[in-house]
Amino acid sequence: MRRLPASSISLLQSLAEQFGLAIERLVAREDAQNHRQNLQGFFHALQDFVFVLNDLGEIQYVNPAVHAKLGYDDKLLGKSILAVHPERVHASAWMIVTDMLQGKRTSCPLPILRADGSELMVDTRIVHGRWNGKPALLGVSRDISEQRALEQALQQQRDTLRTLINTIPELVWLKDVNGYYLACNPAFEALFGHTEADIAGKTDFDFVDADLARYFRANDLAAIEAGHVTSNEEWLTFASDGHRALMSTCKTPMYSTDGTLQGVLGISHDITQRVAAEQALQSSLHEKEALLKEVHHRVKNNLQIISSLIRLEAGRTRQEEVKSVLGDMQGRIRSMALLHELLYRSPSLAEIDMGQYIRQLAMQVFSANVSKRAPVDLKIDITPVAANLDQAIPCGLLVNELITNALKHGFPESHSGSISVELHPVGESSLWSLSVSDSGIGLPEDFESKRQGSLGLQLASGLANQLGGALSVGPGTKFSVRFSIVEHAPAAVAA
Ligand SMILES: Nc1ncnc2c1ncn2[C@@H]1O[C@H](COP(=O)(O)OP(=O)(O)OP(=O)(O)O)[C@@H](O)[C@H]1O
Ligand SMILES: [Mg+2]
Repeated sequence: MRRLPASSISLLQSLAEQFGLAIERLVAREDAQNHRQNLQGFFHALQDFVFVLNDLGEIQYVNPAVHAKLGYDDKLLGKSILAVHPERVHASAWMIVTDMLQGKRTSCPLPILRADGSELMVDTRIVHGRWNGKPALLGVSRDISEQRALEQALQQQRDTLRTLINTIPELVWLKDVNGYYLACNPAFEALFGHTEADIAGKTDFDFVDADLARYFRANDLAAIEAGHVTSNEEWLTFASDGHRALMSTCKTPMYSTDGTLQGVLGISHDITQRVAAEQALQSSLHEKEALLKEVHHRVKNNLQIISSLIRLEAGRTRQEEVKSVLGDMQGRIRSMALLHELLYRSPSLAEIDMGQYIRQLAMQVFSANVSKRAPVDLKIDITPVAANLDQAIPCGLLVNELITNALKHGFPESHSGSISVELHPVGESSLWSLSVSDSGIGLPEDFESKRQGSLGLQLASGLANQLGGALSVGPGTKFSVRFSIVEHAPAAVAA
């Protein structure tokens, strides 16, 4: 094989080197091309806004999201970045960007302008870099308008809640499970004489004496133990101005949605004035009661005086008929006097125990007629019931009239027997039956005509009507009336 001359070999070597370099350059160019395409694809796919600024702040590049979402065309290139910001933020925008470039802040929430002039809130990050070989600022902005709206709504809710808690005049506070304050409202601040910022993170022991702090803590623990709201009344001194107030305090254990105990919510209400008003009302009520008792006492005394006057008058006459009429009058007056006596002795001035009244009334009538009396038994059977004055008076007068009649007409000197007085409810209704019967000689044959000419039974009929019923006679010597007793339920009286 013929060897090539040395000059040809060196030419070939040089050619090969050139060829090799050309291939290397070609490969490098292809790599760069691929790289550029990759980057472009990446920027296209990004939903965030990508932009590049030169050192004058002029836009050199924006990714397609800027066009698609903000509505700008290519005219944006070369314009100042301030052109896409509302004028009011121009001054602050550069300061924020500068701070960020110096690493003083990481986030830059600013509004930017869409092509149609509307605003969009974005958070921007900017770094130093190079673009086309020159120093540049590389930035990425993310649309945070939705997040902002959510944050604002949340903040608004928090503000509303806070305003509500701050506005209510009650003391409101929150402590954690260990008794450390988490929050309180201005009304509570007045109690400790410190601001919420001073109170938060501290316990009662930092503000009140140890005994009181222990008492507060015991109440907190009682609420936690109970697992529901507990309340107590306490006299507290307000550190803000030294005034003392009687407070009604409710403590409620607070649980998170997963049921974990979070702490205790306290709400305290000033009841000083209300309690003072209640006490004033109570003492005024006592005064009125005392006055009313005094009135009943005097009415009873006056009735007794009238009764005595009638007795004196009866003593002066020799006519038996007049004596008897005056005696009956005395009985009627005494039955009313007895009622007033019972009223001023009873705990309730509005109601009277009918059993007690009728029993005493019957005995009174018996003892007043003792001289004429044969051995007659008195049987009283009464279902306990209380009635008001309006019903007790006619009942008393009616019973007085009927027992007087029984003693006067049913039992002549030698005749003995019994008189029964009964008061019972009738069935399930509110109706009651009051009756007076006797085992005496019975009604005379001319009873109907007699009762027309006399006062007693006519009075009894009138009283029965007054009670809302009618006087019925029979069977035998029995007089009765049905009427409804208005019973006062204790709650209704209190209301
Ligand atoms: N329990 C009775 N037993 C027998 N007779 C009676 C009885 N109750 C009333 N009477 C008769 O009915 C009459 C009418 O009674 P009423 O009470 O109206 O008059 P009074 O008793 O005679 O007189 P007053 O007007 O003073 O009461 C009586 O006179 C008596 O004859
Ligand atoms: Mg009579």
